[in-house]
Amino acid sequence: MKSILKDLATTAGLLWQKGWAEANAGNISVNMTGVELDLESEFIASGHVVSPVAFRSIGNRWFIAKASGKRMRDVAHDPLQNCAVIHVDSKGDGYIGYYHKSVKEPLIPTSELPSHLAVHDILVKQKSPSRAVVHTHCPELIALTHLRELQSTEAFSKLVWKMIPECAVFLPHGVGYVPYLVPGSVDIAKATAAMVSQHDLIIWGKHGALAIAGTCEEAFDKIDLAAKAAFLFLTCRNAGFEPEGLTNQQISFLRTLGKENE
Ligand code: 13P
Ligand code: ZN
Repeated sequence: MKSILKDLATTAGLLWQKGWAEANAGNISVNMTGVELDLESEFIASGHVVSPVAFRSIGNRWFIAKASGKRMRDVAHDPLQNCAVIHVDSKGDGYIGYYHKSVKEPLIPTSELPSHLAVHDILVKQKSPSRAVVHTHCPELIALTHLRELQSTEAFSKLVWKMIPECAVFLPHGVGYVPYLVPGSVDIAKATAAMVSQHDLIIWGKHGALAIAGTCEEAFDKIDLAAKAAFLFLTCRNAGFEPEGLTNQQISFLRTLGKENE
């Protein structure tokens, strides 16, 4: 539990420092199944919630997630005061939320919980080692989603790969593109889940980014890499020229290298 909280708090701090977490923006969740929790004496149940969709592969599993409306900068200082614990029902039809006993007002999990649980559901189903999901409002990435020619998985991935070799090596599967859908909705959860088997970095059009990795900090790194590419692209355009970019041949060599190192 301690190492999960440390990873979560460190990442929340990075999101804030980067300027990607205005007000309550963004959310993080971690699959904590197998981690010992002293639930009886440390946590209070906030109530049972029936899920709008069932998550069949995560029955009986435990998660920690940022609480809805809480700030990343506060999560960084005190994760237990700003996060909710979730126990999914045995069949995945709903969950019980918990909050730490030292918290004065009950905490409810992030409004993006449908997307987080939908992603964890696929990860568990696929026996993936990934346990962390990070969603954030990175301005450079969001800005690019307002450019019509980049509103597809193919175009966004190519943009990210062509700007800097690291993106082709460390994001060899590219960036999944989900067009704008209502935040917190079942629709965005379904569209995001549909991307998980192919992409561990997903862009939500006109909203933000979501990354999946073993730890929160590793998920942050994936967004940071794409953000650097977006920043470079915008810098070139601001300077009045179109970036030349790496060639298709250079990109495909680097992606092969990246896939070999996975
Ligand atoms: P929450 O405060 O409910 O986590 O919402 C923040 C957010 O980024 C919604 O997309
Ligand atoms: Zn958001």
